[in-house]
Amino acid sequence: MAASESEGVIQKVCVIGAGTMGASIAAQVANAGVPVLLLDIVRDEDNRNAVADGAVASMLKTDPAPFMSKAAARLVETGNIDDDLGKVATCDWVIEAIVEKLDIKQQLYAKLEEVRTQGTAVSSNTSTIPLAQLTDGRSDAFKRDFLITHFFNPPRHMRLIELVTGPHSDADTVARVRAFVDRKLGKTPVDAEDSPGFIANRIGTFWIQAAVNAAFDMGVSIEQADAIGGKPMGVPKTGIFGLIDLIGIDLMPYLQKSLTSTLPKDDPYQAIARSEPLIEKLIGEGYTGRKGKGGFYRLNREGGGKIKEALDLKTGEYAAARPAPRISGPAAKGDLGALINLPGKTGEYAWAILGPTLSYAASIVPEATATIVGVDEAMKLGYNWKFGPFEMIDTIGAAQLREKLSESGLPVPEILEKVGEGTFYRVEDGKRQFFGLDGEYHDIERADGVLLLSDIKLGAKPLLKNGSAALWDVGDGVVALEFTGKMNALDTDVMKLIGEAIPLVAEKYKALVVYNEGSHFSAGANLGLALFAVNIAAWSEIEKLVKGGQDAYKALKYAPFPVVSAPSGMALGGGCEILLNSDAVQAHAESYIGLVECGVGIIPGWGGCGEMLDRWRNMPGQPKGPMPAVSRVFEIVSTATVAKSAAEAKEYGFLRPGDGVTMNRDRLLADAKAKALDMVAGYAPPEPPEFHLPGPSGRKALELAVEGFQARGMATAYDAVVAGRLATVLTGGDTDPTETVGEDMLLEMERTEFMKLVREPRTQARIEHMLETGKPLRN
Ligand code: NAI
Repeated sequence: MAASESEGVIQKVCVIGAGTMGASIAAQVANAGVPVLLLDIVRDEDNRNAVADGAVASMLKTDPAPFMSKAAARLVETGNIDDDLGKVATCDWVIEAIVEKLDIKQQLYAKLEEVRTQGTAVSSNTSTIPLAQLTDGRSDAFKRDFLITHFFNPPRHMRLIELVTGPHSDADTVARVRAFVDRKLGKTPVDAEDSPGFIANRIGTFWIQAAVNAAFDMGVSIEQADAIGGKPMGVPKTGIFGLIDLIGIDLMPYLQKSLTSTLPKDDPYQAIARSEPLIEKLIGEGYTGRKGKGGFYRLNREGGGKIKEALDLKTGEYAAARPAPRISGPAAKGDLGALINLPGKTGEYAWAILGPTLSYAASIVPEATATIVGVDEAMKLGYNWKFGPFEMIDTIGAAQLREKLSESGLPVPEILEKVGEGTFYRVEDGKRQFFGLDGEYHDIERADGVLLLSDIKLGAKPLLKNGSAALWDVGDGVVALEFTGKMNALDTDVMKLIGEAIPLVAEKYKALVVYNEGSHFSAGANLGLALFAVNIAAWSEIEKLVKGGQDAYKALKYAPFPVVSAPSGMALGGGCEILLNSDAVQAHAESYIGLVECGVGIIPGWGGCGEMLDRWRNMPGQPKGPMPAVSRVFEIVSTATVAKSAAEAKEYGFLRPGDGVTMNRDRLLADAKAKALDMVAGYAPPEPPEFHLPGPSGRKALELAVEGFQARGMATAYDAVVAGRLATVLTGGDTDPTETVGEDMLLEMERTEFMKLVREPRTQARIEHMLETGKPLRN
């Protein structure tokens, strides 16, 4: 069965166990628009569904939110295993996420065997129990439909799922689950063997243990340890002790025990697993990390202050956290060879982490997963490492690593010998390849429907390129416009490239997608440049930038071919306005979209005002007449509202009801391309809108509302000034309500009001503050 066919087969899911993982896995199923039944045990006779009900209620209050929208929560049906297990018969996949106890899981499977329909997939979220033990005693039919689907916490945001199948697993059942977790849940399935800790936790636990041991043994402070073991290694900036605080210090002995009891006695982890009296004491006294009274770090709030303190590993006392000595040069920028060779404790500690960890990671292929790619994907997607272990080895060089491992008396795994003077990854004929256990290089195959610009770039040159943008041929007559500046900020170069791209696409191609693979689609206009122009009072330059952006976006909107924008991550300000000016959007589900200009004391200036008015007057269910749409847009834009998902962006009108949402980041470009190609036949650019706007009386009404907020302390005096300028544009200035306002007129008003604000010192202060701190100034 092809993946796209099998995907549809799972139409209802049941999750059993509404704890940390089960509840949020159910939320992710609901985020995909699929109904889900969430069951737990009966704990309260008055409300037999209390556990699952409580989990849903608490998830609606959690930040970051497991649900992508409030509407998604309505797809979760709650229940309990005593009354509702029979409903499993109507589900196509049952995910077990109950306590990590073999006998309890086995008892549940025995009951499931009686109620489930043949062919319904059953999977366990176990972190530690082998598949063979889980299915012991079950029928062959049950074993055929059983697998392990190991999610990572939090399931909405962590992209890894380890899939473990057994000798009896049915290929079709596995294909159905695989397609669903990939396309619907947006996860990347990585095949793992049925071995202890699978891939990511096996390496991750080893890595944490190595780092903790070395910090104790070498007298490295936790601040130093995290400064060395965090960012310079491409590991999240929490570093290792910060990470342990985040996941819970009490989890350490638990993971340790589970691995030492299941791994063979000669596994290198057995030699480094150890308990520290100080850590036991912390756990015993409730210092379990962020969820407890504090951990390796804590916030001291005594005397009303907020001081970050760090634990002294020698004395066990807290003291104000001290900044660690800075690492600079290549070692700070991902050159791991330079890092491990730094003189003194910094280099030694870096090696104490990387030496054993890389040696260990290289030793578990193929025992834990068939290829090096599986190891790297697991660590990148499950632990948020920027580079996988084998990618790290490539930056150090296999030969240097072998030499240093031998010098340190650490094992040199076979694959590391085999690669010789070569690298684990290489590019050949424009294709990325990996080194296999057979000693040959193999192409990295992408799943059907996965298209990455980074892959295309390996074998192609851009059609156009300047300092802030590039244009790529992405196949089938479609080109992609990529932003390339810092934070993908937008400036005159981007606008210039749009201007050059349009005739090229019109002449030689069918459609354009606006897409990039940065963490964020675009943070908006380049404020640094704007501030520079303000400081030298280059007002005409600023006006040119505003007008240039309006012209470029309008040219895109009315271009003779379809334009589809495909955001992922933040699409703010001008980054949002390019979506608003596109024919359609195909958004990654994790898109954070908003017109945030008012936060820096300006208003949307690249057509955002008119585009939002156009959306809201056409919004289904919206009351008639000009004022309701104007009020709604005013409320959204004046408060710099940011939608926290693509689903929420539809609720705010940043996306249209028909815009597409892609759950899996890797499928975004292919989906956007398909959407654009779908629009090619019979494509005609949109008609310019004409607006009926309420004029001065409408503006007065909006200003009164802002005064109300100001009186209640919810808006500052300057917020009111900025909102007033926005109100002027949205209500059409001095327009007579009986007449219509054209798009060009509205754009001119945007420009005029924008220019008034940008000359204000309090706007300039807001911009400066944003650039310095990344946060809005409430002046
Ligand atoms: P948890 O303790 O937060 O939740 C377990 C839930 O299962 C509780 O609500 C409990 O009432 C319920 N439960 C217990 N016995 C049950 C039964 N017979 N029928 C129905 N419900 C029952 O546990 P957590 O952390 O959510 O873990 C669940 C599973 O996920 C475990 O297998 C664990 O190893 C695995 N896991 C946990 C991760 C984590 O970070 N917490 C990460 C990945 C996997």
